[in-house]
Amino acid sequence: EKGGYEHFMIKEIFEQPRSIKDCMRGRLDSQTGRLILGGLREYVNKLVNADRILIVACGTSWHAGLVAEYFFEEFCRIPVEVEYASEFRYRNPVIREGDVVIAISQSGETADTLAAIELAKSKGAIIFGVCNVVGSSIARATHAGAYTHAGPEIGVASTKAFTAQLTVLNMIALLVAQKKGTITEQKLHEMLVEMETIPEKVERALQLNDQIQDIAATFKDAHNFIYLGRGYNFPVALEGALKLKEISYIHAEGYPAAEMKHGPIALIDEEMPVVFIATRDSSYEKVVSNIQEVKARKGRVISVVTEGDQLIPKMSEFVIEVPAVHEALMPMVSVIPLQLLSYHIAVMRGCNVDQPRNLAKSVTVE
Ligand code: M6R
Repeated sequence: EKGGYEHFMIKEIFEQPRSIKDCMRGRLDSQTGRLILGGLREYVNKLVNADRILIVACGTSWHAGLVAEYFFEEFCRIPVEVEYASEFRYRNPVIREGDVVIAISQSGETADTLAAIELAKSKGAIIFGVCNVVGSSIARATHAGAYTHAGPEIGVASTKAFTAQLTVLNMIALLVAQKKGTITEQKLHEMLVEMETIPEKVERALQLNDQIQDIAATFKDAHNFIYLGRGYNFPVALEGALKLKEISYIHAEGYPAAEMKHGPIALIDEEMPVVFIATRDSSYEKVVSNIQEVKARKGRVISVVTEGDQLIPKMSEFVIEVPAVHEALMPMVSVIPLQLLSYHIAVMRGCNVDQPRNLAKSVTVE
């Protein structure tokens, strides 16, 4: 059942080129410029005409929501708020006509997310679901939606569900942008072509496995980790930190790199590993300065960079090179080494990778 792998988690990490491809199959075609999401058809105009999009989710799915916020705002020019379902449901949120809710959940059974949906529904909002488990409670409670088709995810740490969620959310956003006219035909074509390259780029990122295992061996006894990124890579930093803490029990924090100087920088000394997700994008120069700030305080820098980067390797103890891709799609690629890093560290520490202590695959109690 684990297909020759030692754990479900590593099997699922390695399935990603396949699961992303499955997720796009029959839905995205760069040749014709068509995006077809059958489950959305009836309600897609609600999204096109939305005054605001509210995204509700928990954990890793919430991180996917954060990436989607940047993506929808960039390509659809619709304001987006990303909410922890557990906070949203209890604070008497403002939900107006013209708001559209997107709920993201791998399991489709997360109690807080389900309750957030019911609340929004009771106030008249239209709800879209992005779920992995077909026929799950959340899939049934939403008006419309698109499945991620990642296949069963058994490891408690969510991996292939995350990249499939991003794939679906990107397709929804590009479809909305196309219908709204907030993207040019040429740009849309470029993005669809880029989307089609993702499985192959993820495959290449997976080839870094041995190198990442070596990095894991160096840091397996660390007590703390900091993950930093900006722009589209900021949610990736949060996700890298969550993966590490949940399966290896090492305390880790993810931050937007620029926020570091508002507090966390005080933690940096010669024992602190700092993972920078520093791929070539519009915030590259800014991230370089943040790396210098960490270096100046003797932090141990591990950088995820775009292949061929000349500058950051000179400033880092370890460099992980991933293939270049449009910055809005980078999270699907840059998260791969972070999944692998947490996996190898957890294995080396003798942790129960697939079933970490105190955690359940779906959190059906609040
Ligand atoms: O099934 P869901 O996507 O609704 O689950 C949400 C979180 O419980 C989940 O992502 C959790 O944070 C994972 N263990 C993270 O790896």
